[in-house]
Amino acid sequence: MVRNESAQMVALAVVLTLLCAGCDYARMTTDDGYDTYEAHMPVMPAGSVSFSEDLPALKMMGPAALRNPLQATPPVVAQGRRGYGYFCSHCHGPRGEGHGTVGQSFAPLPTDLRSERVQRQDDGDLFFKIGFGFKRHPNLSHTMLEDDIWSVIHFMRQMPE
Ligand code: HEC
Repeated sequence: MVRNESAQMVALAVVLTLLCAGCDYARMTTDDGYDTYEAHMPVMPAGSVSFSEDLPALKMMGPAALRNPLQATPPVVAQGRRGYGYFCSHCHGPRGEGHGTVGQSFAPLPTDLRSERVQRQDDGDLFFKIGFGFKRHPNLSHTMLEDDIWSVIHFMRQMPE
């Protein structure tokens, strides 16, 4: 009886081996193999200087040094309106009043962007708050491009009451 069972196990093993022998495992044997840390980082040419004109560089300058590089031309304001729709409207509401779908769950509501408090601030101050966050306002520097923020500020200046 015991002998019979082990004969069955051997038969099963033979059948499974034969079945798997037909499988195509070629990719496992032909792929290039790398050991950990074997691949090397590219080396920069001698004399290269790294530089960045992106938002972290502006953050180091501080709000007082920032000037809006864009003019409030119709295309720029249109770009700002589009950016506002993507990045702000869900919190600050379609008209900037603070009643966006997401914004409604904030208490108090997101600031009314048409208010005296916001409108009297310089573009540099607004850029800093919008880009790098302010109290409960999120840091958008990882989401928005520099020109998106500047153009949104021009759009905010023209928000109807
Ligand atoms: C996730 C929600 C959210 C998004 C998205 C958001 N805001 Fe805000 N924002 C807030 C909240 C909340 C406040 C109020 C901050 C506070 O006083 O705690 C605020 C405050 C502000 C202020 C007032 C700063 C001050 O001096 O009081 C400005 C200006 C502003 N947001 C502009 C924008 C613009 C422009 C966008 C889009 C580019 C934007 N926000 C996107 C939630 C948001």
